[in-house]
Amino acid sequence: MLTPVLSANWGDADSFTMSGYERRGGYAAARTALQLQPDALISLVKDSGLRGRGGAGFPTGLKWSFIPQGPEKDGTHKPHYLVINADESEPGTCKDIPLMMANPHVLVEGVIIAAFAIRASHAFIYIRGEVLHVIRRMQKAVQDAYAKGYAGKNIFGSGYDLEIVVHAGAGAYICGEETALLDSLEGRRGQPRLRPPFPAVAGLYGCPTVINNVESIASVPSIVLGGTTWFGSMGTEKSKGFTLYSLSGHVKNPGQFEAPLGVTLRQLLDLSGGLREGRTLKFWTPGGSSTPLLTDAHLDVPLDYEGVAGAGSMLGTKALQIFDDTTCVVRAVLRWTEFYAHESCGKCTPCREGTYWLVRLLKRWEAGQGSPEEIDQLLDISDNILGRSFCALGDGATSPITSSIEYFRDEYLAHLTHGGCPFDPVASTLFASAASGPISTGAGAPA
Ligand SMILES: Cc1cc2nc3c(=O)[nH]c(=O)nc-3n(C[C@H](O)[C@H](O)[C@H](O)COP(=O)(O)O)c2cc1C
Ligand code: SF4
Repeated sequence: MLTPVLSANWGDADSFTMSGYERRGGYAAARTALQLQPDALISLVKDSGLRGRGGAGFPTGLKWSFIPQGPEKDGTHKPHYLVINADESEPGTCKDIPLMMANPHVLVEGVIIAAFAIRASHAFIYIRGEVLHVIRRMQKAVQDAYAKGYAGKNIFGSGYDLEIVVHAGAGAYICGEETALLDSLEGRRGQPRLRPPFPAVAGLYGCPTVINNVESIASVPSIVLGGTTWFGSMGTEKSKGFTLYSLSGHVKNPGQFEAPLGVTLRQLLDLSGGLREGRTLKFWTPGGSSTPLLTDAHLDVPLDYEGVAGAGSMLGTKALQIFDDTTCVVRAVLRWTEFYAHESCGKCTPCREGTYWLVRLLKRWEAGQGSPEEIDQLLDISDNILGRSFCALGDGATSPITSSIEYFRDEYLAHLTHGGCPFDPVASTLFASAASGPISTGAGAPA
């Protein structure tokens, strides 16, 4: 059931070194690719059906094809840029960091191929600032690629030049949003940009730019070598190929599992040894905390873009966070909401104000101080954020709340009858002081 491609060499002691990667045939795909025409590579990736692994599942080859190839109206050519989104800050998402640690060269090789395909001579790998070990590992891999002549001038003697820059962010979830990332990369405060213009037309420094997730680009070398039929032999009709699923939480053996798209949680749980002894599945996220929760009724949902959407959620980053029956859903949702309130960049009012009020309300629920009507208040505030925010962070913040109320309304109400968290008697005293006082979401709220 597992299809290790990206993770095939993770167990090797030297998986992250140039020699280890080359021993397994590394950089053969880049050599092949640089002998092809850039447009042929774009077609290949388009035909493969590869969809972006950063969350939205946008077709990768199609994205590349949006880069204008001809000259500007005044006859000049603007530079093109490739930007790799290695920010990985979504709660529960833990695939790009292990991938870069265990196999940094597959990303470097993917960068060479993708940059050549979109006719870019500069590529940036934007890594979240807190993960210094990953930054160092990527810097070393890029340095080794330069030393071998795989980056820099005249790569593989093909006449193609490419500069690769590893850039450290400063640790903000919003900088994973692609246009905020571009602002941050340009040295500004990371806040989302208005679209259009889209990055393919006016991205980094106002030039045509492709932004792709680490896993998306790392998947490209195998497609160049294996071909579209091989890639399409895995996965489902509209969600082709293999991907990294990350299981965390209440499972015996958490970790990354590389499997064809369309595998089910039931199958992945078998691979991870199942839930903790004597416990049952209560709820889970299919793709990080921004994707609506699912329950034990969804164990057999195919984990591809269409299957998860059909169950009312999103595949997202395939970060499967598993919670067993010992977990208080209100407390889990409060934790996530605190994260979104903290990470809200403040640019738009629904998200900036709404996430603040959601935290206030949820703290009251957690302490057993809500009232039945406040469930409607939670839903009402969520409704005022969803679809009315400037970027998807606001939408994502509402997912855990609305889905938890859909599936666990009784548990919210049990907090009222119990006078605190029914799962943990300590919780009610913990939150009581922070959440005391009547709540109003009217004007005059502290910012
Ligand atoms: C708040 C927020 C955070 C995001 N964080 C990431 C991230 O850490 N990594 C990532 O690849 N995409 C992230 N995305 C999605 C990116 O905006 C973008 O869709 C993605 O990088 C495109 O790459 P792909 O087409 O290869 O999936 C985030 C989006 C939002 C709204
Ligand atoms: S939705 Fe939130 S993170 Fe996005 S622009 Fe608005 S305030 Fe910023």
